[in-house]
Formats: sequence, C-alpha cells, structure tokens
Amino acid sequence: MLPQDIMLKMAEPIIHHREPEYKAIFQEVREGLRYLFQTKNEVLVFTSSGTGAMEGTVSNLLHSGDKALVVRGGKFGERWEEICRVYGIEVKCIDVEWGEVVDPNVIEESLKEDPAIRAVFTQATETSTGVIHPIREMAEITGRYEETVIVVDAITGIKALDIPMDAWNLDVVVSGSQKALMLPPGLSFVALSEKAWNLVHCSN
Ligand SMILES: Cc1ncc(COP(=O)(O)O)c(C=O)c1O
Repeated sequence: MLPQDIMLKMAEPIIHHREPEYKAIFQEVREGLRYLFQTKNEVLVFTSSGTGAMEGTVSNLLHSGDKALVVRGGKFGERWEEICRVYGIEVKCIDVEWGEVVDPNVIEESLKEDPAIRAVFTQATETSTGVIHPIREMAEITGRYEETVIVVDAITGIKALDIPMDAWNLDVVVSGSQKALMLPPGLSFVALSEKAWNLVHCSN
C-alpha cells in the first residue's frame, strides 16, 4: 500500500528530466539518500528493481573467477548465489537453516581458510524468513581483511532497521524503493565505501 500523498504526487504533471527543476530535486534526493544510508558516500540511483541493483553490484565488484562467500539462509541469499554464478564467480555458500541467523564465527573461519575471498554477500533482513542477520559483527570481521568487502542487501532493511553504513564499516549497501520507503517499485540504490570502490576499479 502506498500512502495517499505519494500517489497524489505521482498524479501531478511530469517534470522534464533535463530541466533545472528536476536537477534541484535530484540534488535533494542525493542528499536525502546519504542521510538515509547514514554515509558520506554517494548513493547511486538505479532505475531498476532491487535485483537489478544486486546484479549491478556483483558485475561491477567482481571478475569471473573471483571468490565470494554467500550467506544462504533464504530465497534472497539464494539470489546472491545465482547472480554470482551467472557472472562466473567462484561461490562458497554458508548454509543457514531457514529461520536461523548466520553465525559470524563461520564467516571468520571461512575467511581464515581462504583469504582470497573478495566479497561476503548477505542480507540485512532475509525477507523470506524474517531473520535479521548480524551485519555489524560480520563487518567487524571483513574489516580485518584488507581485500575483502561485505555486501549487504538491505532492500527490506533500510529504514525498517537502523543501518548506519559508515559507523558499522559496511562496504556495499543495496536498497529499493518499494519496501520500507513506501514508494512505488522501480528505483534501487547502492552505496559503496572507498574499499569497495577500489575493488570496482580493479575489476574494470
Ligand atoms: C531482501 C530482499 N532482497 C531482494 C529483493 C528483490 O527485490 P526486487 O523484487 O525489487 O527485485 C527483495 C524483494 O522482496 C528482498 O526482500
């Protein structure tokens, strides 16, 4: 359900996307997104579903043959795995029983075993089970590895939970317009830390 004022806003005359009026709104949106993600980084806006932003994240961060660790504890954990495999990423899954929370110690053990893992993919909230994963603790672990980033699908997490991206040292946070933001679907957002941008530059 969308709030009525949002639906009414969408019924207003369309603003042309090259006009100064639109540029001013877009500036405000960029600022607002930084506030929402609690980051000083730019939050990129995609005209796509949340899955589109997940795909953009994988394809820009990693190369075919790179290694990734995926928390697979529900439908959306499986989605990270599927996207990674399509891009030729070597995936190791941490299988978490549906309805259970991932144990951060398992992340630590996997990274110790294989420090070549470039990215750890997880959900902040695994919508298919309702679980909230301990992303803060997980980011403390990835923070100790210079070349490993944590990628958080916060499509249902942002705004429903407090997710301070910079304070928690999260490297990539993905979100979407249609969940807690109570907007229509079709926009998604991705913010990257400096560490994650370095990985993007290496993979291009
Ligand atoms: C945690 C999570 N990730 C990804 C998605 C996929 O988002 P979309 O349907 O916009 O592709 C959803 C949608 O429910 C979600 O809840």
